[in-house]
Amino acid sequence: MDGPVSPRGGSVVSLPATLTLAYHAREPHPRDVPLEAVYLDLETQPGPGRPHVILNMVQTLDGAVAIDGKAWHIGSEVDHYLFRTLRGWADAVLCGAGTLRQNDIVAITHPHLQAARAAAGRPANPAAFVVSGRAEFSDEVLRKRFFAHRESASVVITTELSRSADRRRVEEAGAEGWVVPADASGEVDLEATLGLLADRGFGRVLAEGGPVTNRRLVEARVLDELFLTVSPQVAGVSTRPGVLAGILGGGQVGLALISEFQYRDPALREWYFRFAVVR
Ligand SMILES: NC(=O)c1ccc[n+]([C@@H]2O[C@H](COP(=O)([O-])OP(=O)(O)OC[C@H]3O[C@@H](n4cnc5c(N)ncnc54)[C@H](OP(=O)(O)O)[C@@H]3O)[C@@H](O)[C@H]2O)c1
Repeated sequence: MDGPVSPRGGSVVSLPATLTLAYHAREPHPRDVPLEAVYLDLETQPGPGRPHVILNMVQTLDGAVAIDGKAWHIGSEVDHYLFRTLRGWADAVLCGAGTLRQNDIVAITHPHLQAARAAAGRPANPAAFVVSGRAEFSDEVLRKRFFAHRESASVVITTELSRSADRRRVEEAGAEGWVVPADASGEVDLEATLGLLADRGFGRVLAEGGPVTNRRLVEARVLDELFLTVSPQVAGVSTRPGVLAGILGGGQVGLALISEFQYRDPALREWYFRFAVVR
């Protein structure tokens, strides 16, 4: 998700030179790692016939994933820096339609990673995909940058169960429309969709929420990793479901910690966890 480039929730933090690697399952720790090197070279392997799928989310200490409907103000500039780094890894960014309706989705990475991608023959930015059963968006949403900007491809993925007039409005607003198979409950079949993405060369998919889409990715058993930023704020509001609420309790997935970075500024602490999803 994207928002204005502005200080977080009243506390301005400048980007640190390093983050502290407090734990890593395979690498020496603790040690300081240059910020530009954090999450830079993810050694990931796509499974057969589908992409490697990672999910990146931010939450407050009390589990809120949005404040006043927006996620942007939860994480600091460091969190924003890291999610742009993860976009540099990705061929495709995948979000649910609710996130587009509440925020905006402009899947842009850092300029230095855009240059590295272009030098390697990749598009400068990942393509942005929004999953929507209804494909129905208000005029206000259809004017968002997701539809209008040209820095990367924008695609709405839906099924034949959506209305053709709504699919036409999506294309007129500037996004591509993909019609994919529906599953038994009439939703977008995420497993088939990811197979299609792999066939078209999108081997690295970065999911960016929200919780409803996360849950469906877990239920479809296609999620490989979770990157979770925890901000030391208490939102004091209930935003349910949370990042993976109701899923871990159901025993559908477990998480194995791969790494934990910390931002240790006297004015702000933030934690950045990377987990493997264990099925
Ligand atoms: N903290 C974070 O990192 C973070 C990240 C992202 C979002 N958020 C927050 O999360 C909130 C939105 O989350 P949300 O859970 O309500 O919405 P969401 O997951 O973004 O979107 C849900 C919608 O996505 C579509 N969808 C997802 N999977 C589908 C499938 N398999 N088949 C068909 N349609 C599918 C449906 O759209 P249709 O209704 O069009 O059919 C569904 O209503 C916002 O407040 C946002 O700010 C937080």
